[in-house]
Amino acid sequence: MIDLRSDTVTKPSKEMLEHMMGAPVGDDVFGEDPTVNELESYGAKLFGKEAAIFCSSGTQSNQIAINLHVSPGGEVICHYESHVFKYEGGGIARNSGASIRTIDGDRGRITASSIAKWLNPAHDVHFPLTQLVSIEDTSNRGGGAIYNYEDIQAIHALCIKNKLPLHLDGARLFNALVETQIDYSAYAANFETISICLSKGLGAPIGSLLLGTKEQIVKARRIRKVFGGGMRQAGIIAAAGLYAMKYNVERLKTDHTNAKVISNLLSSLNWVEDVVPVETNIIVAVVKDDETRNSIIERLKENHILCMPFGPGMIRFVTHLDIGEKEMEILTDRLKKI
Ligand SMILES: Cc1ncc(COP(=O)(O)O)c(C=O)c1O
Repeated sequence: MIDLRSDTVTKPSKEMLEHMMGAPVGDDVFGEDPTVNELESYGAKLFGKEAAIFCSSGTQSNQIAINLHVSPGGEVICHYESHVFKYEGGGIARNSGASIRTIDGDRGRITASSIAKWLNPAHDVHFPLTQLVSIEDTSNRGGGAIYNYEDIQAIHALCIKNKLPLHLDGARLFNALVETQIDYSAYAANFETISICLSKGLGAPIGSLLLGTKEQIVKARRIRKVFGGGMRQAGIIAAAGLYAMKYNVERLKTDHTNAKVISNLLSSLNWVEDVVPVETNIIVAVVKDDETRNSIIERLKENHILCMPFGPGMIRFVTHLDIGEKEMEILTDRLKKI
């Protein structure tokens, strides 16, 4: 089976498993797991942040960050297709009691000028207090689109001017940075907090990191505990994350090259109307007739290719660590026959 449903489907490699088995561990709720501590300081240092906290998932990491920044009755500004709004089970309202101002923007990306229109006047009691702006880079619903760096800087400047924290859902941040080659610390300086996922393109079986100041991360530790996310001998899984950050970042370029190959191939097929321009590892194909979308996905499955429905008439394919040369050859062969 060639599984292109998501970059979360990878299995840990032999080398990664060896790192996990050899990891020194302790009780992380006591702060005594040396591997978790190493992972957290490695991640923080890599992005020039003071501290980091290991979380069980990207959702948990985002939700902790949101809880850190907002209070009940406050408001979070984000894109209407952003993961924090669309795919976290209503967590912003449920966990933090905040409302959400969703805005539109090209391929999941919002701009300083669109955000500025929705900053509520703090002196007027009618409005929820705007307390956080959250953006996603790369954007999942935007088909892996990368933010223009100048746009990020403009959003950052707007947030500074309005004393608002800016959070980044960087589930696929490494995919963006291997393409843009922007310095990690310079990029990260635009955000108060950053969530990065270790279990997507990087190929770890579990885990995310939330990066911020020492003070924020001390608070985040309490929130994570309250959310039930305090883990004990978590070094076993943290070791996979460390391995992933050390050895699996540069190879993301291969996933991007493969994604472009798949995109070209799809464009030549008679059931494909269009393919959203590929920027990283996500390919979104638009089928000619929406009615046929599910049967196409079924036919692909019968031919041992797995992919995901992604909205009306759209199918998502994601490249990852477990799609190598051999899988690409098999895939090319199979796709041409469908
Ligand atoms: C952009 C984005 N943010 C956050 C997440 C959440 O990650 P997790 O599945 O680990 O909760 C995902 C998951 O696919 C994602 O695509």
